[in-house]
Amino acid sequence: MKKIAVLISNKGTGTNLQAIINGVKSGEIKAEIAVVISDTSEALGLSRARKNKIPIKIVPKKEDLLPVLKKLNLDFVCLAGWKQIILDEVITAFPNKILNLHPGFIPDSIKGKVLNPDGNEGLWNKGKLANQAIQNFLDSKSTYAGSSIHYLTLEFDFGPVLARVFEKIKPEDNIDSLYARLKVKENKMYTDVLAELSVSKTVMVIDGGGRGAALVDKYTQSDKVGKILAVPGNDLMSVNCKKTVVTFQHLKTTSIAEILQICKKEKVDLVDVAQDNAVEAGLVDKLTKAGIKAFGPTKAAGQIEWDKSWARNFMVKYKIPTPEFHVFKSEDKGIDFVKKDPDKQWFVKASGLAEGKGAISAKNTSETIDAIKQMSKFGISGKTYLLEEWLIGEEFSAFALCDGEDFQIVGFAQDHKRVNDGDKGPNTGGMGCVSNPKVISAECRVQSADIFKKTINGLRKEGRPYKGVLYLGGIIVKGKVWVIEFNARWGDPEAQVLLPSIKNDLYEICLAIISGNIKKTKIIIDKKVRVAVALCAKGYPIDYSKAKGKLVYGIEKAAVKIYGAGIKKIDGSYVVSGGRVLYVVGEGDNVIDARRAAYSAISEIKIQGNHMHYRRDIGWRDINR
Ligand code: AMP
Ligand code: GLY
Repeated sequence: MKKIAVLISNKGTGTNLQAIINGVKSGEIKAEIAVVISDTSEALGLSRARKNKIPIKIVPKKEDLLPVLKKLNLDFVCLAGWKQIILDEVITAFPNKILNLHPGFIPDSIKGKVLNPDGNEGLWNKGKLANQAIQNFLDSKSTYAGSSIHYLTLEFDFGPVLARVFEKIKPEDNIDSLYARLKVKENKMYTDVLAELSVSKTVMVIDGGGRGAALVDKYTQSDKVGKILAVPGNDLMSVNCKKTVVTFQHLKTTSIAEILQICKKEKVDLVDVAQDNAVEAGLVDKLTKAGIKAFGPTKAAGQIEWDKSWARNFMVKYKIPTPEFHVFKSEDKGIDFVKKDPDKQWFVKASGLAEGKGAISAKNTSETIDAIKQMSKFGISGKTYLLEEWLIGEEFSAFALCDGEDFQIVGFAQDHKRVNDGDKGPNTGGMGCVSNPKVISAECRVQSADIFKKTINGLRKEGRPYKGVLYLGGIIVKGKVWVIEFNARWGDPEAQVLLPSIKNDLYEICLAIISGNIKKTKIIIDKKVRVAVALCAKGYPIDYSKAKGKLVYGIEKAAVKIYGAGIKKIDGSYVVSGGRVLYVVGEGDNVIDARRAAYSAISEIKIQGNHMHYRRDIGWRDINR
């Protein structure tokens, strides 16, 4: 049950308080009014609280409010007439928890505007009290009056808008007649907003990049989810989003103690552990132990990603197609080995997590020795390393939602790892991708499904049931699928193209997986082709320091999905903060249309001083096929 406080002053008559009381009594608002607070015992609304046996607290000094609120462990604070006297420290202490009703139309962005139902511009009435605002609607000959409920932020009369109401102005209206009609709508709006918030869930996403943004975007589409927290998140998790998204950018995905603390304080209903290092750190295990629902594999199940030598041995045991491999724990042993069997081509791989940089290709013995010598730069992750047979073929990735026992494949994608067109230049974290690529034949689907089946069954038999998203990195060699690697999470940027194709409520899917019901869940995937293009800072992945801090223009104009990654918002403007700045995702009935949508959106985006780089050929294989 959610806990709310209502703050009233002697400015009003307490009709909003009464509406909230009625909503709670009727069961529409599933919350308890823990307290009604006023700065004066004269406030008219207090009698309404008394009549309903709601505790009352008189806090005459505004400086005393914060400690009072802090003690109550509240979910929401509803203001009625308090906004003028509330201190900034209270607003800062309760981000996205303090609701306020403003007698005007607050836009979604500071430079935005709200249109009335007839298309005329609605008045913001910034800084105006109720009566002045109504007068302003009349004086300005507005066609509509109206109000907004928003979360209080330090920005005056602004903040995420939860709802708005419109009331048509009649020629004969005066302040009283207009306000009387508007008030009825305002009271209902307050009840409706609280009714929704009182049952809405809070989800936390553990990720900071484009994949995290795609997940946040997906959770904002859930009717059940009201608020999304992202650790660490970034400043462009969601464009034009009506729901509350809070980021914790000072934290890491492995800041376990802090994450647990936030989950308790914010009463988080579900944590989506989306990043590999958080899986390795055992975040899912620790959350589950603390009684917090977590989506993602346990540390033991996730070993399939964070320990590549363990994973290869597992694949052998369960007859999952794996290339020849050899595991070494010292530089010398590996070097001796390659010297004995010269002129083979190898992939030299750190066994542990290495931010996607741990695999080095080697065309001959001297390159192999050189690669082995580089393993030490991965620290503990490179202490054990593998020599793997270099498979030549076409790569793809496949994704399955697994509940420990069963799984459903939700899509295939093809990443573009190299920085330049034509798959040239150094490897990157991913320059773009396509779903579903044409290379995925019916036969490839069958083989991938067989690999998933063996993997899920094998992990279960090993006492490590796998729950969450399982990523199969595959390569097709002469029609046969081999496993390059497994990852214990969505791919990045694959999530950016696959998540939008899922038509189900992601929150519900996660609950189904956690409770072992993936088989019974009908997952609906649309048939669209999607192309994600990574917009990078010039110089990425080597040195993009010159691009850092440069302004990014044109994001708001884009007509497609945009997911932020290495981006910050400073004084209302976006600036570059990382190598892969953002992802633009185009969709269409075929790859040509999807590419056109992505690239035409990109043409609207600029980075100051042209410090921008992106591949122009994402999806090239599918165009030529
Ligand atoms: P990984 O770090 O395992 O994701 O590997 C990075 C990339 O190296 C993969 O996406 C493949 O392109 C390539 N790769 C890794 N292992 C092999 C292999 N055994 N044969 C061919 N290519 C490989
Ligand atoms: N797309 C590559 C990865 O997520 O590891």
